Amino acid sequence: MRVSEIKYYVFLMLVLSGISGYAQNSNVNLTGRNVQNLDGKWNVIIDWYDSGSATAISANKKPAGATDFTEFSFDNSQTLNVPGDWNSQRAELKYYEGTIWYKRDFNYTKKPGKHVFLSFGAVSYRSDIYLNGQKIGSHEGGFNSFNFEVTDQIKSGLNLLVVKANNERRADAIPARKFDWWNYGGITRSVNIAETPEDYITDYFIQLQKGSPNQIQGWVQNSSRKPQHIKLAIPGAGIDKTFKTDTNGRALINLNAKLVLWSPAKPKLYKVKISSSADTVEDKIGFRSIEVKGRDIVLNGRPVFLRGISFHEEVPQRQGRASSETDSRMLLTWAKELGCNFIRLAHYPQSEQTVRLAEEMGFMMWEEIPVWQGIQFTNPEILGKANMMLGEMIDRDKNRCGIIIWSLSNETAPSPARNATLKQMAADARKADPSRLISSAYDHFKNSRNEIVIDDPLSESLDVLAVNKYMGWYQSWPAGPGNVIWKSNFNKPLIFSEFGSEAMYGNHGSKDTASLWTEEHQEQLYKDNIEMFKKIPFLRGTCPWILADFRAPGRMHAQFQEGWNRKGLLSDKGFKKKAWYVMRRFYEQKQKQDLKATQN
Ligand code: GCU
Repeated sequence: MRVSEIKYYVFLMLVLSGISGYAQNSNVNLTGRNVQNLDGKWNVIIDWYDSGSATAISANKKPAGATDFTEFSFDNSQTLNVPGDWNSQRAELKYYEGTIWYKRDFNYTKKPGKHVFLSFGAVSYRSDIYLNGQKIGSHEGGFNSFNFEVTDQIKSGLNLLVVKANNERRADAIPARKFDWWNYGGITRSVNIAETPEDYITDYFIQLQKGSPNQIQGWVQNSSRKPQHIKLAIPGAGIDKTFKTDTNGRALINLNAKLVLWSPAKPKLYKVKISSSADTVEDKIGFRSIEVKGRDIVLNGRPVFLRGISFHEEVPQRQGRASSETDSRMLLTWAKELGCNFIRLAHYPQSEQTVRLAEEMGFMMWEEIPVWQGIQFTNPEILGKANMMLGEMIDRDKNRCGIIIWSLSNETAPSPARNATLKQMAADARKADPSRLISSAYDHFKNSRNEIVIDDPLSESLDVLAVNKYMGWYQSWPAGPGNVIWKSNFNKPLIFSEFGSEAMYGNHGSKDTASLWTEEHQEQLYKDNIEMFKKIPFLRGTCPWILADFRAPGRMHAQFQEGWNRKGLLSDKGFKKKAWYVMRRFYEQKQKQDLKATQN
């Protein structure tokens, strides 16, 4: 086994075992597996003081005898929808931060020679999982999928699944105590039971080698260590190849192929079938090469400009987490209408259905983990936790060609502990996935008069630089927009990962006074920023903050905010503000330029 693979294994084991003591006990790819879905109405117990006894609640203990009684019981208790955040489902839970116990009974028929897994799309923020009164495991992190093997705990007939979910904000968490989005709690994505044969394909990574238009490189991991044949079939590309696993159950994939490459204009996905003697998994995978060449981001051998937008995983009209395909499609359709070919999934891994749908719709994506502003980098546990989240994110989406950039953090202030942690994470991410670009959004620069110099030491470890800068809002203009000079100490492409300002939809008036929150002020600010962008020679992408107004507990202006961050180009009802049209015009021009460049 090559060193890089051993190191990757170690990184994966570290990630999966979790330095912080939390563990998911299986790494099985559930895509295309036979699953039993457990979504629906779950009984709940609101445990405000976190005083419920896990032993009693996980067994839904009944009173034994005349003198006995229970205070924490799911019988006749209220229910909540799964998937779904709890905050938007009940008025009294709008601001709730604490523990809620969830219970779901389900029938299951055990089959000989099968492994059984319990899989969660996401539970916010930390969770303990119990099956039939037994603790299965715990997980930390509100935005990553995780699963546990329950072959020994599940039984034929009625099963009792209990999940303790807690979304209390803590200084040693990721994100930490303060963040600029709603702290939605609960089982926010789907729950499934999946089965595999005794000997099964645990995982696979099938992508193009970095910078190659035709070299498919990757691996297939099998559960048993007994060497055997693995077949890789991609009928649409005339591929039907057999590889052999080694004594670690891993088959290395390396083959030359004639492929229609995935791109925003042509989001081609292939049916891919991987089979061993006992197991088969199917997936839809696209192939594209992504790399940087000097100051260019190069997709399939051609420089590309990222016409981007950021969005939170939220449906503003419902003031709740997006949790269905319809929700994902609404957000992505808005982005399409704006003329985007790129999405920054802020500030955390969004649902697999959003990622898969975005890829089908032809969006390149930036995916990040919520290492947001005030993270406790001096805490020795933080690297382990962050790497666990990074590993889980890469693990889930490594076969999604739409994802071109992994991002490690957002607006963390440079410090020795921060620099060292993020540098290590960049190295670990590269080992785990050598085929994509690494970035991080930051907001600390050297300013002198009308010059802004990108000098964050983290840039050395990144492929793509990304800056968050609110010219005309948090930062006043040091000179006319066309005279602001951006410089970089690094020969790398730049994405403007955040810019923008707040405006209340329908509020019209002066364009010169920020505190009036007018659409005209936001419109002018966008025009000014675009004028500045045209003067940045190494700019290769823009991502306005943000697609739509979103819930944010720190935004309490009584007249204009009331818990909303109003930086959306769309209102909380999805109505277009004036700045929307400015951005769309800019993207139309960019698209024309790109088209012309490809025709030359
Ligand atoms: C920051 C941050 C966002 C936040 C935004 C804002 O740059 O990354 O999460 O919402 O600014 O202030 O609106």
